[in-house]
Amino acid sequence: MIKLYKKDQPDHLTTWRWIVQNSDQEEQQQKVSENIKHHKIIYDFTHNFDLDQLGNDIEEAKALYGEHGWSSNNSKDGKGSPYRGFGLTWNPNKKPFANEHQSVLGSNDRSTFTYEASENLNERVKDEHRDTLGFSVRTKASNHKSIGTLLDNVNCTLVKSRISTIYGNTPVMCTSRPFHRDANVFIGTRVNIPITTDKPYVFDLKTLPEPLHLKLGHAYSWDTSTLHRVISMRPCNNPRTHIVINVSPWWDWNVQEECWQTNEFYGQIHPIEMVYEGHIMKGLTAV
Ligand SMILES: [Fe+2]
Repeated sequence: MIKLYKKDQPDHLTTWRWIVQNSDQEEQQQKVSENIKHHKIIYDFTHNFDLDQLGNDIEEAKALYGEHGWSSNNSKDGKGSPYRGFGLTWNPNKKPFANEHQSVLGSNDRSTFTYEASENLNERVKDEHRDTLGFSVRTKASNHKSIGTLLDNVNCTLVKSRISTIYGNTPVMCTSRPFHRDANVFIGTRVNIPITTDKPYVFDLKTLPEPLHLKLGHAYSWDTSTLHRVISMRPCNNPRTHIVINVSPWWDWNVQEECWQTNEFYGQIHPIEMVYEGHIMKGLTAV
């Protein structure tokens, strides 16, 4: 097991770059990528989670902890944003600071939410928005009733996870919305579960032949470093809410020792295979 202590992380590196520089992560991920068994652009699963209950409990959590907008340079407090929700994890040390349930939703000093891997020595990036693994503390809302029960199925350390609600009755959520990239599957492996939706909402992944409507009763995973976006094909008055579960597949956060440590999957199983095998979360059946 490799252990890397948070106190040793320099300010100019994200947690991920620091991990890569101090381990054989890149060799290990190269090795498992050559042996991947399931090659799909998007991975589709079914589940039996109670969506009505989850939908109710999410609305209750919003009433208790707020429904926050995505913050950016243009919308510092995110108030006018049609891209909303609340965090399931957060970073209490985030720079610039944002409250517990807004912490993962963008950043008020950034104009886009494109993931950028490059770092420069003069720039502080530790605990900044792009530092995905910095967002590893569970929020109060993440333990609210059936949301907490659902997350009990997750076996790895949750990072940068959230409830995402889109209001499709605004032009910015329609076909002119830009594509973006997020962190790759080794940094964060995502399971995206639709809770409420409507037909006009589609997931648009550059590598898919056409946009795909993500269905209730299903859960999805894909390589989030591929260009993608969610849009409403036409103005839609019903909002769309998904749970975005995001985990660190190979490195677990050790709260007591304040270190990141490798788990039994490190260098053994590709994160996508881990989703298939139920190592990321229980309750999913591959379609
Ligand atoms: Fe994304």
